[in-house]
Amino acid sequence: MLDVDPGHDDAVAIMLACGATELEVRAVTTVAGNVPLEKTTRNALRVLTFLGCSEIPVAAGAGAPLERQLVTAEHVHGQSGLDGVKLPEPGFEPDGRGALRLMAEVVRGSSEPVALIPTGPLTNVAAFLRECPELRSGVERVVLMGGSHGPGNTTPAAEFNAYVDPEAARAVFRSGLPVTMVGLDVTRKAVAGPGELQALRNLGRVGNAAADLASYGFGGSAGSGPIHDAVAVAAVVEPGLLETRPAYVDVECEGGITCDETVCDFAGVAGEPPNAGVGLDLDPERFFELLYRSLKNLQEAGSGPAS
Ligand code: BDR
Ligand code: CA
Repeated sequence: MLDVDPGHDDAVAIMLACGATELEVRAVTTVAGNVPLEKTTRNALRVLTFLGCSEIPVAAGAGAPLERQLVTAEHVHGQSGLDGVKLPEPGFEPDGRGALRLMAEVVRGSSEPVALIPTGPLTNVAAFLRECPELRSGVERVVLMGGSHGPGNTTPAAEFNAYVDPEAARAVFRSGLPVTMVGLDVTRKAVAGPGELQALRNLGRVGNAAADLASYGFGGSAGSGPIHDAVAVAAVVEPGLLETRPAYVDVECEGGITCDETVCDFAGVAGEPPNAGVGLDLDPERFFELLYRSLKNLQEAGSGPAS
């Protein structure tokens, strides 16, 4: 299941997940983050409509963080959340069950534990774990885009998704579920240069949209910004793609200049057992090969409407 706040890189993550033959996307839930909830939900519907994947239910979740005011990122993703990219209007409606009920029904109805891949603030995931504790055993693991062992991108210490809802991030790291932290340390390596963007465009309609998404705000053919969220999906599709190291991760929710930082205790200084595998390295070539392969599958299936 994907939990997203599209956002350009979330959109590429959805594309990768839908195209990867190794994954079955059971649901897409939306959360407020890059832009408010109404827009992230609309954007998820537009991406899936473009891909011809309207059988995947999309349900709206939290419109605000657990305990804080929402902070959004229009300065990165534009007013719509997907500025600069041609996508169709939504061809289907959001699922009336809402995110938490949809998540619960997918987990309950699955014969095998389900992987959760959140690529926005962790509000929905934390709420789901709090409200449905009996379903935790149905969650195989959480592979999240968020946090950073090194520098942040929203403050010197904090990555955006952790910054928006640090209490939710803390709850997920403390949940006892296996967590993989796909933070800035690895996602900053998923940057497309002119060669990668051209390879995407050569794939046709879907690849072209992915190239537009990746390069929005970064000068088109000159290169892209980090395609953060797609790395979390890639880490599930291709185990071994990331080099991870176990650590006890907690989130600073009270501090001053270090507020919202994901503090990674690799050496066990706090005396706590590891609660996460922290991504420390990524082979960008393998990441892009996987992205091309997955988008090619979508291209070949190709049933979506023109944008
Ligand atoms: C994260 O913040 C958002 O702007 C992106 O979609 C990504 O999930 C990177 O810090
Ligand atoms: Ca995101």
